[in-house]
Amino acid sequence: MPAINKQITLAARPSGMPKPSDFKLVGSPVPDPGPGEFLVRTLYVSVDPYMRGRMNDVKSYAPPVQIGEVMGAGAVGKVVASQNPKFQAGDVVEGFFGWQQYAISTGTGVRKIDPSLAPISTALGILGMPGLTAYFGLLDIGKPREGETVVVSGAAGAVGSLVGQIAKIKGCRAVGIAGSDEKVAWLSDELGFDAAFNYKTTPNHTAKLAELCPKGIDVYFDNVGGTITDAVFPLINVGARIVVCGQIAQYNADRNETGPRVLWNLIVKQARAEGFLVFQFASRYAEGLTEMAGWLKTGKLKYREQFVDGIENTPRAFIGLLQGENTGKQLVRVAPE
Ligand SMILES: NC(=O)c1ccc[n+]([C@@H]2O[C@H](COP(=O)([O-])OP(=O)(O)OC[C@H]3O[C@@H](n4cnc5c(N)ncnc54)[C@H](OP(=O)(O)O)[C@@H]3O)[C@@H](O)[C@H]2O)c1
Repeated sequence: MPAINKQITLAARPSGMPKPSDFKLVGSPVPDPGPGEFLVRTLYVSVDPYMRGRMNDVKSYAPPVQIGEVMGAGAVGKVVASQNPKFQAGDVVEGFFGWQQYAISTGTGVRKIDPSLAPISTALGILGMPGLTAYFGLLDIGKPREGETVVVSGAAGAVGSLVGQIAKIKGCRAVGIAGSDEKVAWLSDELGFDAAFNYKTTPNHTAKLAELCPKGIDVYFDNVGGTITDAVFPLINVGARIVVCGQIAQYNADRNETGPRVLWNLIVKQARAEGFLVFQFASRYAEGLTEMAGWLKTGKLKYREQFVDGIENTPRAFIGLLQGENTGKQLVRVAPE
């Protein structure tokens, strides 16, 4: 085991799109676990859009990361030393271990992963937080019914790519909005979306959606907000459900944006827009994971993971995610399994 734990800390609060200089690679001694603790060697760390919010000095559902602090993050790793009777050396675990090679844990919020079920990296994607977000967000908040039309933005990302596939499983028409022709082809040709389009090369989003959703929109799963969401509102049906999952188009905004006033559509269409956090479904995670694992096993769900190698490249992976470089779930491979 090396003596030094490479870590990525927040060096400066980003203004707009984060820059590599907003992060710092530091080294600290690999810690020894105390009583009740264990040491994890991370194998995969996650980069997620919500991390951008934690870099701002504002109060949210979780406290901001402090300057000089290791960036918090979900990770999958292997227990290498333990003074906790519930975790043994060799156990594969998923937890909030951060952007670093080694982490100490007491076991709170940590789950053991069975490597025989699926690749262990999926515990950060389809069989982890993004998968649960797609599952509960669509089914519990969106409540899609057979024959309805479901539109999802951020459709080729970790959450969005699953939302469209779950919509198909439930007998809906699935329409995706994504940022490149390659992503659109993946959604249509491999994942079974009924239609998709590239928002970057489509001048009139409302006109395109009207063409692709001839019966209107019953469920809109919103991962991005901004002008894409503005374009969806005029097409919602009576009784539509708008699932407000993320607003990534605004995460780098220094000032609040204003746009067209669209909420009157909710009145006219007697529709509902509801935000949610995946954590509100924590007591039902087992249900969600069992269902998702079943669909994965029977081939009803497909997924893609994209890897960047080396903990020192984590900021680059995170910035790339915000710039749409990922198809499916973006991960950093910290060490070989
Ligand atoms: N509510 C919750 O509990 C919860 C939990 C997890 C995630 N989320 C949210 O769900 C959304 C998706 O998360 P994820 O982990 O699956 O990320 P992701 O979709 O895998 O990655 C982010 C994607 O956002 C797109 N994007 C970036 N800037 C954009 C912009 N200005 N306009 C439109 N699209 C933009 C990019 O794809 P393109 O090439 O298509 O632009 C990029 O690939 C995020 O908003 C995230 O915050 C919410």
